[in-house]
Amino acid sequence: MKKLFIAGNWKSYKGIAEANAWFDTFGKLYTEKHPSWTNTTVILCPPYTLLPLCKERIEKDRLPLLLGGQDISAFDEGAHTGEINTHQLAELATWSIIGHSERRRDLGETDALLLQKVEKAKSQGLHVIYCVQNEVVEVPPKQVDIIAYEPPWAISAVSGGVAQNPESANRVCEKIVHKYPNIPVIYGGSVTADNVHSFVSQEHIGGVLPGGASLDPEKFFTLIERASSA
Ligand code: PGA
Repeated sequence: MKKLFIAGNWKSYKGIAEANAWFDTFGKLYTEKHPSWTNTTVILCPPYTLLPLCKERIEKDRLPLLLGGQDISAFDEGAHTGEINTHQLAELATWSIIGHSERRRDLGETDALLLQKVEKAKSQGLHVIYCVQNEVVEVPPKQVDIIAYEPPWAISAVSGGVAQNPESANRVCEKIVHKYPNIPVIYGGSVTADNVHSFVSQEHIGGVLPGGASLDPEKFFTLIERASSA
């Protein structure tokens, strides 16, 4: 069976009550069904403010979920107002998304800045999911654990939810795999429980990065089940 990565990106959604409700439902489904997702690594990336709560709920309910941040500071600790540094993130999570297209677009993040972020993340032993928008964008090669290919036009908030055709997403992923052998490439952009199988069954797609579909615990649970049985 193919090894898969699923990274749920909550973006800037949910407060404490909503996150607790998400875990109530997800935990109940997990306890009832007791699925075996042995081939699948599931990483949940909530907003920073929810990481302690998510960590506690995952440990308490013994859920097979890892935690990730959605970004990380390019600076070490110090006078950097508003920044969360890698040491702080590493206390709560083992992964970080770096270079999401929404941050490149809205905050002007550049490749040079993203390289600094990757280096900081690795210095604290964090695993990195590095986002690219196409096969041309360069990836800091030896330091990235997963490459997430996400065409910005396919991201649901931007386009109204039109995923890329799985075969053409596979062709782009194939080019990325050839450029960076040994780094798994996952696809993101309007992935749902209904279309996840068509993506993870592609030869060069090693998982998915759902945003909107990770917000609903039932949809996310179903998405994981369908992917892991692919
Ligand atoms: P989406 O988001 O699944 O809502 O399209 C994916 C992402 O931007 O990471």
